[in-house]
Amino acid sequence: MLYTTTSILKLKRDLLKITQILDVESIRKDFPILKREVNGKPLVYFDNGATSQKPQVVIDAITNYYTNENSNIHRGIHTLSQEATNAYEEARKKVQQFINAKHSNEIIFTKGTTDSINLVASSFGKKHLKKGDEIIISTMEHHSNIVPWQMICEEKEAILKVIPINDKGELLMDEFKKLLSPKTKMVAVTHVSNTLGTINPVKEIIAEAHQKGALVLIDGAQAVPHTKVDVQDLDCDFYAFSGHKMFGPTGVGILYGKEAILNNLPPYQGGGDMIKTVTFEKTTYNELPHKFEAGTPNIVGGIGLGVAIDYMNSIGISTIEAYEHELLAYATKQIKQIEGVRIIGEAKNKASVLSFVVDGTHPSDIGMIIDKLGVAIRTGHHCTEPLMNRFNVPGTARASFAFYNNEEEIDIFIAALNRAVTMLK
Ligand code: ALA
Repeated sequence: MLYTTTSILKLKRDLLKITQILDVESIRKDFPILKREVNGKPLVYFDNGATSQKPQVVIDAITNYYTNENSNIHRGIHTLSQEATNAYEEARKKVQQFINAKHSNEIIFTKGTTDSINLVASSFGKKHLKKGDEIIISTMEHHSNIVPWQMICEEKEAILKVIPINDKGELLMDEFKKLLSPKTKMVAVTHVSNTLGTINPVKEIIAEAHQKGALVLIDGAQAVPHTKVDVQDLDCDFYAFSGHKMFGPTGVGILYGKEAILNNLPPYQGGGDMIKTVTFEKTTYNELPHKFEAGTPNIVGGIGLGVAIDYMNSIGISTIEAYEHELLAYATKQIKQIEGVRIIGEAKNKASVLSFVVDGTHPSDIGMIIDKLGVAIRTGHHCTEPLMNRFNVPGTARASFAFYNNEEEIDIFIAALNRAVTMLK
């Protein structure tokens, strides 16, 4: 890679811009895993789209819960149970405030985004879908926002329609509008594409769908860690996301739903906590949110997620967004200088995801070589096989950034990538 003096000066100016937004060096100290080495090299973790790393405060909250508070919730009058219940319900309120939901009972704890979407597809589909009804998704959906809809469409003989995208990886909004009709019962689209990084115009999508009387579910798994989400402003009917992609524990996620709509859906699973009374003849169901939370939940997961939200708030979501934007711009500029690299996903409005292919090489070979140099990226279809077919590639290599990444790591990644490309060609 050859730099001219002007381009070096320009890169330095860009670096200065990045470092002024956020004190990343102090933030990195909060994430113990960032100190480790992989294959004898300092870890460069660029697989944040798959899962994010956890700050010490979240790790401490998990340890503290099992050390001092472990108990079941909503069931005990003893002190430990009260403390655990309070901590769990406090976390629910933190989620409510974080996404600006109207009521905390609109926040359902689930296992993660996949579980949240399955809940809606199953409960909504069973009650409201009939033969010939239509569900609209998009070409860039994750399998978790495709398969649950396919399953319920098959059961109810409903029809799945797909919004096409352009070569940059942007939704074709005119085509979307043409797909909408009075038969449309649900529009389920991702806020941010996990593979392309595209930020979709979800507010516009929601308004258009509502005009036709359809409900809207937004898959926010890749949006919530990177951008401000206000469910009241969006006016979405459902919003799904995961704890582990936003610096919290795995195995916990959220389904937001408007109160009136959730009240009108049947429970997803039966069991403890979701009932009011049970006899062998009849069961009556609990109020929201418990109606959708059968069985002992991931208590420590919920509490850990609350702490992760506190942590994100301490930095500020707009600071995170601005910093990651600069990081992406810096990485994009650098990667474009490597011969043979083709970026997959060049939407105008993008979050910090950089998917690419390199002519004449396989993404997994690149992933393996740069792992030897300490750099963790994801390769493959990213659970978006139809999207890979759209771009006519078997998979991509994907670097996805978080606010604890820095420009030095991008330089290491680019050097490792250069080495891999040289070796493979
Ligand atoms: N959906 C996650 C990803 O994009 C696992 O990697």
